[in-house]
Amino acid sequence: SLSLSPLANPIKRDGPVVLCILDGYGIQSPKANPEGDAIVAANPETINGMIAEAKERGLYTELAAHGHSVGLPDADDMGNSEVGHNAMGAGQVVAQGAKLVNVALEDGSMFSANGWTSTVKAAAAKKGRVHFFGLLSDGNIHSHIDQLEGMVKGAARESPSAIFVHPLIDGRDVPPTSGLIYIAKLEAILKAVTEETGVPAMIASGGGRMHCVMDRYGSNWSIVERGYNHIVHGKVDEAELVSGYKGYYTSAEEAITHARELFPEKQDQFNPPFVCVDADNKPLGPVRDGDAVVNFNFRGDRAVQITKAFEAPEGAFDHFDRGVIPACLYAGILEYDSEAGIPKTYLCPPPSITRVLSEYLCAAEKKCYAIAETHKYGHVTYFFNGNRSGYINEEIESYNQIVSEPNEMIEGHPEMMAEEVTVDLVAAIESGKWDFVRVNYANPDMVGHTGNFDSEVRCVKFLDQCMKRVLAAVEKMGGVLMLTADHGNGEEMMDKKGKPKTSHTTGAVPFAIFDPKYQNEYKVDTTGIETPGIASIASVTMNLLGYKQPEFYEPSVVTLE
Ligand code: 3PG
Ligand code: CO
Repeated sequence: SLSLSPLANPIKRDGPVVLCILDGYGIQSPKANPEGDAIVAANPETINGMIAEAKERGLYTELAAHGHSVGLPDADDMGNSEVGHNAMGAGQVVAQGAKLVNVALEDGSMFSANGWTSTVKAAAAKKGRVHFFGLLSDGNIHSHIDQLEGMVKGAARESPSAIFVHPLIDGRDVPPTSGLIYIAKLEAILKAVTEETGVPAMIASGGGRMHCVMDRYGSNWSIVERGYNHIVHGKVDEAELVSGYKGYYTSAEEAITHARELFPEKQDQFNPPFVCVDADNKPLGPVRDGDAVVNFNFRGDRAVQITKAFEAPEGAFDHFDRGVIPACLYAGILEYDSEAGIPKTYLCPPPSITRVLSEYLCAAEKKCYAIAETHKYGHVTYFFNGNRSGYINEEIESYNQIVSEPNEMIEGHPEMMAEEVTVDLVAAIESGKWDFVRVNYANPDMVGHTGNFDSEVRCVKFLDQCMKRVLAAVEKMGGVLMLTADHGNGEEMMDKKGKPKTSHTTGAVPFAIFDPKYQNEYKVDTTGIETPGIASIASVTMNLLGYKQPEFYEPSVVTLE
């Protein structure tokens, strides 16, 4: 059952328990470039002061937020917001999509499962073609090139009439201009497959991930439209053809190289779309009736919208005009939203995350409030609740989304919507309505992904001002606040050579408790916990609210019993 046992000696506070997640606010690891730590450079006085006080009181520790601590396949996989929020919200560490797909490829179960046979195999049997699109890198947050390789090889064994790959250039989970390295790797894979099997395999189109296809939470559908057009129709939108950019090229390498020459300030993630054409300028591989199309991104947030564009029947989609819709067999590599049943067909079952914190709190009739701006709204609701969309109990929960500005504004306006989030958060804390309030400040991560050190410093300074008001509200109401992060980013804004770094890190994150009414009732204590990780936060939340965590939750890092 979902009932929690009360603690023998609970703390009694008048105000709410607040979980404040500063997204991407990590602690620099000793291997990183100290010059690149924008969080230290910003010297956020309120946050540092609060952490110093927590340290003095024994209410502080560092928590691991990467690798095995969040269910990723390798110990040195960097963290990310999906798995980080899953861990914090579920209190358990589950094998994540990245790992599940690896297993299904290694043991071959993917190729005999219904998802594969009803799409790739079925298309090949009728001499259709097979398309793969998704993020091309080894970032392992949304996708992995090795998984793409495994699937391209698997598809070739089914003897389709051709295989087309539509890579999205990364530069956000990997170095900002590393795109051509992965293109070269992919070309080598495709060449080998063609030579070995006789199935022609080639790159058909592509574009930068933040400009084509991978929008999230409905923030900008034109990104999806652009991607749909180059993948499905082999078409580059007119608006892209500026400054001599042609849009149609004989290879991905040629396209990306030309874009770099013309737009040197653009990172890979914002690369314009391109379509590969033959000698007669005809697109190599638009999607036709009877083709199979596989989205090889395993993470859901940025895969849902494009999936809707592929799956929605004629007349049931109004985000953009899809033109003539080919009758293709679409599959996602993983299920992206199990509640909504997106996609209808997938190649590998997703992690099942059950008995999450929110379910327990709702069962205990604790009133819960969640807030974030668009970029991270699904993180603090959907991911936090074990990949469930919507409320667990609408009667006692409320989720608020502050609409984000467009991506292009982040670098120049690193404050983003933090002011609006703060106003709302303070009101929620002071309303006296909520037992548990959680918030995600998107800034340190979203600005971190721009690779702009100065913007990151400005963002952290601004957040520090926000935190001052939040802490004052907690103090006024007699509540308790946990300050932490889902993974690192802003503490490494430069690589070892001093070049901008856009990706997440393997850094630990701070975990500090701010408890103005503290009277030594408990401590943060990690004794006996091998690698304390952020999944512990769910247990701590339960403890601060007066309950023992369930046996199968990660151990709590506080001594309340
Ligand atoms: C993104 O999707 O923006 C990055 O790949 C990962 O960032 P997030 O895990 O912080 O959302
Ligand atoms: Co991020």
